[in-house]
This record gives sequence, C-alpha cells and structure tokens, in this order.
Amino acid sequence: MEEDRIITNHELAEDTFEQNIRPDSLDEYIGQKEVKENLSVFIKAAKMREESLDHVLLYGPPGLGKTTLAFIIANEMRSNIKTSSGPAIEKSGDLAALLSSLEPGDVLFIDEIHRIPRYIEEILYSAMEDFTLDIIVGNDASSRNIKINLPPFTLVGATTRAGDLTGPLRDRFGIVSKLNYYTDDELTEIVKRTSRVLDCEIDDKAAIELARRSRGTPRIANRLFKRVRDYALVMGNGIIDLKITKIALDKLKVDSLGLDETDYNLLRAIIERFNGGPVGIEALASSIGEEQSTIEDVYEPYLLQQGFLKRTNRGRVVTEKAYNHLNLND
Ligand code: ADE
Repeated sequence: MEEDRIITNHELAEDTFEQNIRPDSLDEYIGQKEVKENLSVFIKAAKMREESLDHVLLYGPPGLGKTTLAFIIANEMRSNIKTSSGPAIEKSGDLAALLSSLEPGDVLFIDEIHRIPRYIEEILYSAMEDFTLDIIVGNDASSRNIKINLPPFTLVGATTRAGDLTGPLRDRFGIVSKLNYYTDDELTEIVKRTSRVLDCEIDDKAAIELARRSRGTPRIANRLFKRVRDYALVMGNGIIDLKITKIALDKLKVDSLGLDETDYNLLRAIIERFNGGPVGIEALASSIGEEQSTIEDVYEPYLLQQGFLKRTNRGRVVTEKAYNHLNLND
C-alpha cells in the first residue's frame, strides 16, 4: 500500500514532528526561489497598503511545503490562520461556518482544495470576489437568499492537481504559484537545518547522501533523517555519518536515487510485460493492480522527473537510464 512506503510523499501520522521544525519566515525557507521572491514582494505591498493579501493558490506534488508556506504567509502578514481541507468540507454549512468565523485579515488555508464538491465550491466565488457569503436559509416553502458581509481575508488554497480545479475557482486566485521538486543542494541544506533544529549532528557527506535519496521532497528527507538518527544512536555514537546513512537507507530499501520496491515493480512490469513500452495507463494499472490515479499522482511524477520514465502519446516508455539503473542494482 502507498502509505507503507517510507518514501511516500503523502503525509503520515509520524510526520507531525514536521510542524515543529517548520521554518516560520520566508528567509528561513529553503528553495523555491521564484515563489519566495514573488510572495515576498506581494506580502510587502499588501502590508504597505494595509490590505489583506490577494488569494494564493499553491500547487505541486505532495510534501514540497505548501502547508509550510501557508503558515509562513500568515506569519509574515502578522495574521491568524484557520485551516481546513477539501475532504473535510462535506456540506455547504461546513464552508459557511468556516467563512463566517473569519476575522479581518485572517488567512484561511484549504488543503486539497480540488476535492471540495462543485456545488459547495460556488459559495467560495462571492466570498473570494467581494467578501460576501450568499446562503439559502429555510426550507423549500419559505427559503430565501441572504447575503452576509465577510471581513477581508486571504484564501490560501493548496492542490496537487491544478488541472482538476474548475476555471471559475482558479480565476479567483490573484497569485498562483507552482512548487517544484527540490535540487539535491537545496535538500542538503534542509537536512542540515533539520540537524540543527533537532540538535543531532550529521556530517556533510551523510547530508548529501540523505538528500540524494529523498526524491526532491523535504517531507521525505525529514522522515528519513529520523530513521537514520535512530541507527546512528543504536549502532554508533549518535552522530550521523556516511556509513551509518548508507546502512540505514539500504535497510529501509531506499536505493541510491530514492527508488523503492514499488518503483522497481512498476519499471520491471513495463520492461518484462510490455517490452519496455509504450504501454497505456489503463493496461499498466491493471497489470500491477494499482489505481490509475495512484500511478499518475504518486508513482510516476518522480520517475518522470528523474528520467526513468517518459510519457509519449502512445503511452509510457522506460528509458535507457532505467535499464542501466535496474541492472546496476540487481
Ligand atoms: N522543511 C520543510 N521544507 C522546508 C523548506 N523548504 N525550507 C526549510 N525547511 C523546510
């Protein structure tokens, strides 16, 4: 199961420690240079005008720091933040209650915003556009529309699937920022920062190795850091060095480029059952017994980004790089 993978980029219960080591200013936030530079200007301008910041949409793969950025935005604006998520908003009343609880200048963070049902989403349009809440009260016979004024607020929406947002919702975000996978250098810096915050020493080579195996994703780097720290404590003197890092990550079955058995199964399936591709997503999904969307959202992005897999108009194709990597590691 996806949640069993140590390198899953979805949030696990054990990741709550992330919240404690989260940077709380843009200056402390590593990587995503363009996003940071833009946000910094927009935040400064909003503060100079003494207005709330325009609504912000953050999109990109899980684990890259969308929630962290939402908290940073609130902090930098000296605002309070209220949080919810698409799946938690089941009825119109849930969203109406959330919106009517806002105070002037608040940041409302909605994670997985693409999962709000369409008919509920419409409430957001007027709320975002002119800070009014249009709701219907009463039953069929005596129902009427009422309009409630809301204080100015900033909606920060996060999604892994920008393409799934409806046009009307997407158009109401003044600021739209895409988060990308982190480079090895940026992740190395994040690992070193985590080492300082958790007060657990890691040497340079070990930090680079850990970064390289973390799939461009801070959430994974921090999760692996904790496990490697355990090995260092039990097998060594508590200091994380390259040898301990390699032993720990090999035991956790995370290879030199961050691939795990699930990745191997997917690549091998294409090589062995479909002659390396091209193979359509439906055939691939049924061949390895996974949902199409899980393959598209979870397995593929990193394999594509690393050049192990290519998407062509006739389907997925395994690359030379994947053949080499699998052989070397067999
Ligand atoms: N922890 C998680 N993401 C981070 C980032 N981008 N910068 C610093 N620390 C982080």
